[in-house]
Amino acid sequence: MTLSLSADIQPSSERSTGSPRANGWRGLIEEYRAYLPVSEKTPVITLHEGNTPLIPVPAIAAEIGKNVQVFVKYDGLNPTGSFKDRGMTMAISKAKEDGAEAVICASTGNTSAAAAAYARRGGMRAFVLIPDGYVALGKLAQALLYGAEVLAIQGNFDRALEIVRAASEQYPVTLVNSLNPYRLEGQKTAAFEVVDVLGDAPDWLCIPVGNAGNITAYWMGFCQYHQERRCTKLPKMMGFQAMGAAPMVTGHIFEHPETIATAIRIGNPANRDRAIAVQHASQGTFNAVTDDEILDAYRLLASGEGIFCEPASAASVAGLLKVKDQVPENAKIVCVLTGNGLKDPDTAIKHSRSQFKQGIAPDLTSVAQAMGF
Ligand code: F0G
Repeated sequence: MTLSLSADIQPSSERSTGSPRANGWRGLIEEYRAYLPVSEKTPVITLHEGNTPLIPVPAIAAEIGKNVQVFVKYDGLNPTGSFKDRGMTMAISKAKEDGAEAVICASTGNTSAAAAAYARRGGMRAFVLIPDGYVALGKLAQALLYGAEVLAIQGNFDRALEIVRAASEQYPVTLVNSLNPYRLEGQKTAAFEVVDVLGDAPDWLCIPVGNAGNITAYWMGFCQYHQERRCTKLPKMMGFQAMGAAPMVTGHIFEHPETIATAIRIGNPANRDRAIAVQHASQGTFNAVTDDEILDAYRLLASGEGIFCEPASAASVAGLLKVKDQVPENAKIVCVLTGNGLKDPDTAIKHSRSQFKQGIAPDLTSVAQAMGF
């Protein structure tokens, strides 16, 4: 009795970082405080983000063969439904610490939802610039309901990013795109979680690439854990872009990026140079996948594994399947699923291959007949 009592009252600062706590996950700043640029003075603005599941996906592993193990890091289970919450708890907490009263971002949707939620929780205004007509419905709904000031521009994400960069230099608003260094600091914790669960780094990390912040953040996380000897190796970083928005693959800017995966509809990635450095350091590659390949992986994840992600996220799995000949025997692979499928119900309904029989008479005979009995 005495023993369990003393364990219960152990101060939080003495608990080691890493695996989920028996007394509940407190959000990634508290859980990984020792690895993050925060101090006692930093007001922690959190929705208890992080600690998302690493789920085995045997149907996808079977498509590859070679005795591989494949997992998905399902970051769509964060509080606003995407990995952006990891970066936003840090960016908003640090903005609050610095006395900011307003934040601004450009977004293909997820950043705007996360910025809105965390800024409002921290008592700040949130201005979000989005490309008019190219943001999935769920993301727009979130930004509006969280109370952001949503400004839809007649231009794409790249143009919106140029404008918010300039705005943050001229007006009292803090930029919370991934150019803000605290964003990547928060996002690197996803790599910590992967290692904490697997016991080491995977052989490959497959990840969708848009503005190229997240691939950079994961690499930072793996390298930091490696330095601390919490993992013995570093993964090959495999970045995947949509064919119509693939500047990291072709090496040139896309003036008019186009893809069904609107989250990664980006032609001029702000973190391009850092992502190239990651590619070289990890001996990874960038590859492009078509919209059809993205949709195939999107459906396979849902109907073969029970996992509903958004189209951009499925690019990581589509990419893995595309380059499966390069996968080494017995490899352990993690694909990052960056956002929740509920963000984009329009694409799901439009591209589902499931039967949807409507207008059935409300009686058992008719229903049984429709069931094929
Ligand atoms: N997957 C999803 C679901 C995203 O929303 C994004 C980026 C990415 C992947 C690519 O990540 O930019 O770090 O390479 N979304 C940003 C936004 C651009 O505004 O929500 P990245």
